[in-house]
Amino acid sequence: MITLALSKGRIFDETLPLLKAAGIEVLDDPDKTRKLILATNQPDVRVVLVRATDVPTYVQYGGADLGITGLDTLLEHGMEWGGAASSTGLYQPLDLQIAKCRISVAVREGFDYAAAVRQGSRLTVATKYVAIAREFFAAKGVHVDLIKLYGSMELAPLTGLADAIVDLVSTGNTLKANHLVEVEHIMDISSRLVVNQAALKLKREPIRRIIDAFAGVVGQK
Ligand code: PRP
Repeated sequence: MITLALSKGRIFDETLPLLKAAGIEVLDDPDKTRKLILATNQPDVRVVLVRATDVPTYVQYGGADLGITGLDTLLEHGMEWGGAASSTGLYQPLDLQIAKCRISVAVREGFDYAAAVRQGSRLTVATKYVAIAREFFAAKGVHVDLIKLYGSMELAPLTGLADAIVDLVSTGNTLKANHLVEVEHIMDISSRLVVNQAALKLKREPIRRIIDAFAGVVGQK
């Protein structure tokens, strides 16, 4: 049995057509069922539904053989930048080029971020992406106090909790609606296929078949 970990929402919606093109059809509608293990048209392939931030954990510890998750989540999980094999035991064979967005620094309109950086001010930064933010500001030589949040990051500069946020930006509509402006583009994000390295050795043939099917679909995009 091959187990694929997915999370509900945008990544799931954008993954379904990819799965279908790779010959895998999920038999249950995740929005209608309370089931967490979903059968597919392939008797030896099943999908497990987990929280987005838990996908790397499931794959790392073998609760799933493969998973699809954002680069943001992988980096926060401890995957090395651009890394293939890493200390996490995750193999990242493919950029699926879905759920594309970017990670940026944003501040309140009127906040002079450039001047603050120039003057060497200490900035308070609220984010869900503490590891990414820490690495980015350290490389830039900017001193920051990081505040970990789990959502609604946009509120932080508006309430005085922080000077800046590090968050995902897709259309930019959320920033605009909250009178925030993007001042740094940290990196582009997309969803990645990750594979448990031990599973890849033990179930090489069926896993390779799935990776190759995805690669074929992505290659045609
Ligand atoms: C992300 C992000 C922003 C929003 C940006 O949140 O945190 O709030 O999307 O998208 P936009 O630029 O198109 O407006 P998401 O909806 O993924 O939910 P989350 O807060 O749970 O991360």
